[in-house]
Amino acid sequence: MTSAAKSISVVNTVANLAAHLDPVHADGLTVGFVPTMGALHDGHASLIDASVASTDVTVVSIFVNPLQFVPGEDLNVYPRDIDGDVARCAAHGAAVVFAPSVNAIYPKGLPLEGIDAAKIDPGEVAQPLEGRERPTHFIGVAEVITRLFTAMGPCRAFFGEKDFQQLQVVRHLVAELNMPIAVVGCPTVRESDGLAWSSRNVHLNDRERATAPVLYRALQAAAAAVAEPGWDRMAVEATMSTMIEAELAGPVDYAAVVDPLTLLPPEDPRPGDELRLLVACQFGEARLIDNVGAVAG
Ligand code: PAJ
Repeated sequence: MTSAAKSISVVNTVANLAAHLDPVHADGLTVGFVPTMGALHDGHASLIDASVASTDVTVVSIFVNPLQFVPGEDLNVYPRDIDGDVARCAAHGAAVVFAPSVNAIYPKGLPLEGIDAAKIDPGEVAQPLEGRERPTHFIGVAEVITRLFTAMGPCRAFFGEKDFQQLQVVRHLVAELNMPIAVVGCPTVRESDGLAWSSRNVHLNDRERATAPVLYRALQAAAAAVAEPGWDRMAVEATMSTMIEAELAGPVDYAAVVDPLTLLPPEDPRPGDELRLLVACQFGEARLIDNVGAVAG
């Protein structure tokens, strides 16, 4: 263990988190917050690095939020490695790991009188793409993020562009509820062959792992295509789907060119406009998502 590793604190309750953070806030120091579901990889580590570089005290939360898994999804087999995660947080300079129980986050228990009764509205930006494929997912994300932000107090919160729609949902929440949180979006970290790091990559078998980089290749090809004058959205989306489906047994969930603010098809895009290209598909046991930014030609 490094000396940083020795000084990390692991807390499991909101009260113990407050005991750590109240003096930090009172001293006028800044808190950096990195929310995660654990099974940490290089993508998560880049968020911790960004937080450590720009705030005084970094807190990493590790909480597999049952509420954001749609029935039938991989909640029960979601990878968990709390000891490895704490060591990684320490090695990257985090001060606190917040690893609450389900009860600590949802004191009245789950389900919250049924997901329909959840009170936090994830907003319009949660409706398309992932919202269509996994209808209650962003309701669960909005609920847990609101509870985690409330526990954390004012902070800079670091999110990956890897989950681009989630990042926009969080930005919407913070603006809508006037939360004293600065949301920082961080670039997607990829393995050397282009596959974005994801906790779910462990579920890929060797053949699936070998073919999964097609997602990034399709996104790069689409980014080049939309940079050409006269590009056609439907044609670019069809090319992305075809490239990916050539490697898959089934269809993609979506392959979309959207306005980065609304996550809807861009209205009347002009040369120089920012676009976001997003794909999602089931690769064997793992559902993979990826996206890149692009500029319209
Ligand atoms: P999780 O999938 O563990 O991701 C935690 C954070 O790491 C998210 O902000 C995600 O976008 C970021 N991340 C994941 N892979 C990345 C990569 N390859 N490069 C850069 N950043 C990456 O997202 C969640 O957990 C949950 O929905 C959560 C926000 C914690 C709410 O439960």
